[in-house]
Amino acid sequence: MLTEQMLDSIKKVESSRTGRMTFEPQRMSAEQKDTLLKEFHPDYRPGGFSVLEIGPNKGEKVPNELCRLLHSRSKISGIEFDFTCIDYDVDVLIIGGGGAGASAAIEADNAGAKTMIVTKLRMGDANSMMAEGGIQAADKENDSVQQHYLDAFGGGHYKAKPELLRRLVMDGPGAVKWLCDLGVMFDKYPDGTMITTHGGGTSRKRMHACADYTGAEIMRVLRDEVQNRGIPVVEFCAVLELILDDKGNAAGAVMKNMETGQYLIARAKTVILATGGAGRLHYQGFPTSNHYGATADGLVIAYRAGANLLYPDTIQYHPTGVALPEQLFGALVTEKVRSLGAMLVNIDAEVFVHPLETRDVACAAVIRECSAHKKGVKTPAGEGVWLDTPMIELKHGAGMIEKSLPGMLRMYMNYGIDMRKMPLLVYPTFHYQNGGIEINAAGTTGKISNLFVAGEAVGGIHGRNRLMGNSLLDIIVFGRHTGKMAAELAPSVNLGELTLSHVEEYAKALKDAGINTGITSPQLLPEYTRNVRKHSRLSDIQ
Ligand code: FUM
Repeated sequence: MLTEQMLDSIKKVESSRTGRMTFEPQRMSAEQKDTLLKEFHPDYRPGGFSVLEIGPNKGEKVPNELCRLLHSRSKISGIEFDFTCIDYDVDVLIIGGGGAGASAAIEADNAGAKTMIVTKLRMGDANSMMAEGGIQAADKENDSVQQHYLDAFGGGHYKAKPELLRRLVMDGPGAVKWLCDLGVMFDKYPDGTMITTHGGGTSRKRMHACADYTGAEIMRVLRDEVQNRGIPVVEFCAVLELILDDKGNAAGAVMKNMETGQYLIARAKTVILATGGAGRLHYQGFPTSNHYGATADGLVIAYRAGANLLYPDTIQYHPTGVALPEQLFGALVTEKVRSLGAMLVNIDAEVFVHPLETRDVACAAVIRECSAHKKGVKTPAGEGVWLDTPMIELKHGAGMIEKSLPGMLRMYMNYGIDMRKMPLLVYPTFHYQNGGIEINAAGTTGKISNLFVAGEAVGGIHGRNRLMGNSLLDIIVFGRHTGKMAAELAPSVNLGELTLSHVEEYAKALKDAGINTGITSPQLLPEYTRNVRKHSRLSDIQ
């Protein structure tokens, strides 16, 4: 599996390792970062974007793949629904079964609301579950929420909506405590204090982790809590459109059972969109660290209903996706690996970027190293740079990788790669949508009453680049917040007549603009599952 070129390069990495242990890589100046991003970050490639021709963000650029979906017909166009037959009638309908949806459900249920989760896959099939490195919260004595705010605001290029970022950092310590109280087993010192580490762009060690499976541990506990409370979860059921009422307020959703193909109607006094990200749309052909359901469905249905998107043109490519072995192409190699001391080096074993620069900068540096500098190592699927993982045990002692990165160690060992002994080949992978549906401090779109949004589907919390660990935090903070707010609002809501007129209006706008992509949206599953679906009961979804 290892080529001559790789073996020669590994020798250089090994022989320079001891020298690197005491080497302090330089940080880039703001100007250097700016230049690097403009030249090498995929967000600046004009060919990757198209201009929206209809809808609230008309005239703005979005990734080509998202534009195609926003320029498409609804999956329910031409189908008549009888709104006198309601299948589910609830106070709070939560769309999405990840961390944000679960947190929202727990709080809505806590507040006494009749709550239901609908998810197109299984409860917990979400990016939340796959999160590795940790969750940020300023709960140590040497830290403060102000410091957390400044780190995140700077890391996001000063574009975060201040009221959203304020909520994120202010509610951070409470969110981590809430998780602890529910039973999340964060890593602790023998005296019971939390172990916290740095992430890229953090000025304090505020990353709380459960080894390298933080998201799985959090999701385990949240899912248990949802189940223990008896909150109904409708699984394998995709939401195809939001339903509004005749006053233009959110009032439910049209759903489709992914196995039987049956359409179902949910009526709801309030709706929370917690539909997650877009990695499986593979913007610009990038591989992804995301789960199979990450196809931007929430963005599509909210946009059709009239919600604004904020920063949909800014995407997070995690600098260290797996470049080898091919079977794991694009899978996440957590930033925690760099936080523990592994450096990024090129084919000649030269350090080309500080390991804890913010993600957008580190990503652009890797791309520059491989393209302009021609210092990448060729792989069957492209190229990559080395992440020198044996440095971790040189720094912290033998056993550190097994203790702190057990999931990663096992993942690579399955392919015969011992990361304790050899460096890993990595390349950027599509990890996160920084942008999404615009919300206000209340957690609503401001355009469609009674519609809340939480989690990765939201745009604006992090500005134009998110720091590690602030996503696990935002799903908890905004999930909980929207759950409480929706439950509080529900008793005062008087639903009008249910309608899908916004879907018809959108179809007319498409026609008037002369757009006919021939496809339907939301996409629901990645393109490459089509062949699988041909031979399964999911075959009639598209
Ligand atoms: O690198 C990571 O573990 C990813 C964390 C995050 O996206 O917050």
